[in-house]
Amino acid sequence: MDVSGKKAVVFGGTSGIGLATVEKLVAGGATVVAIGRSESKASALPNGVSFETCDVRDGDAMAALLSKHAPFDILVSAATGGGRALGPFLEMDMDGYKASFDKLWGYANVVRFGAAHVTDGGSITLVSGAPARNCRPGQIALSSVGGAVEAMVRAVAREVAPRIRVNVMSPGSIDTPMVAVEGEARTQLYANMTAGNLIPRAGTAAECAHAIMYLVENDFVTGTTVDVDGGWVLREG
Ligand SMILES: NC(=O)c1ccc[n+]([C@@H]2O[C@H](COP(=O)([O-])OP(=O)(O)OC[C@H]3O[C@@H](n4cnc5c(N)ncnc54)[C@H](OP(=O)(O)O)[C@@H]3O)[C@@H](O)[C@H]2O)c1
Repeated sequence: MDVSGKKAVVFGGTSGIGLATVEKLVAGGATVVAIGRSESKASALPNGVSFETCDVRDGDAMAALLSKHAPFDILVSAATGGGRALGPFLEMDMDGYKASFDKLWGYANVVRFGAAHVTDGGSITLVSGAPARNCRPGQIALSSVGGAVEAMVRAVAREVAPRIRVNVMSPGSIDTPMVAVEGEARTQLYANMTAGNLIPRAGTAAECAHAIMYLVENDFVTGTTVDVDGGWVLREG
C-alpha cells in the first residue's frame, strides 16, 4: 500500500515508536490521527496531525473513537497500556503480573473494535518486544505479554484474511521516553542492557518505525513478526 492520500490511526502516537511512525506516515503523505492519554504530549506531533485522548484499556471509549474516525486504511498501536512487572516469577506480585497484561487488553481492543473499520487492502500493526522469544532474567511478565500479542496477531491474521493484514513489530532495547532515567545513568543503562546483543547499542524509534512502515506498505506480508532488536533474540543469557 502506498500511504500517500491514505488515512491512518495511531494509538500511542505521541511518543517514542508511535510518534516516529506518525512522522513517517505524514512524510509519506498520509492523513494521521494520533491517540494517547495525555494532552500534554500532543505538542510533539507534526503539523496537521489530529490528536484524540483515549485510554486503550477502555473498550467503550475505544469503540466510539474508532467509529468517529472510520473508515481508515492504516491502524497502528504502539501504546504501552499500563505498568510492567519485573523480577523472578517465583517472587512475583501476581497483581503486578496480571496488570502487565494491560498491554494485551489494549491491543485486543484496537483489533476487536478497529478491524471492521479498516478499508479493504488495509492493515493493522502492533508492537510486542524481544523478551517474547528470548526472555532474560526478571522479564517473565514482559515475555508472557509479548508472546500473547504475537500469538493473537497470528491467530487474528487468519480470521481477517484476505480482506486486511495484521502484523507485529518486535523491538529490543530502544531509546525512547519509556525509560525516564537521564544523562550518564541513561547511557550506562542502555550500554548494560545491550552489551550481549549482536549490535550492542540501543535502537532508535525511527529504526522501529521504518519496520512498521514496511509492514504497512508490503501487501504480501501478514501474520508475522519483524524483529528490530540488534540481534537480541540470538543472544545467550
Ligand atoms: N522502548 C523500548 O525499549 C521497548 C522495548 C520493547 C517493547 N516496547 C514496546 O513498544 C511500544 C512503544 O513503546 P515506546 O518505547 O515508544 O514508549 P513511549 O515512548 O513511552 O510511548 C508510549 C505511547 O503510548 C501511549 N500510551 C501508553 N499507555 C496508554 C494507554 N493506556 N492508552 C493510550 N495510550 C497509551 C503514551 O501516551 P500517554 O502516556 O499520554 O497515554 C505514548 O504515546 C510499547 O508497547 C512498548 O511495550 C518498547
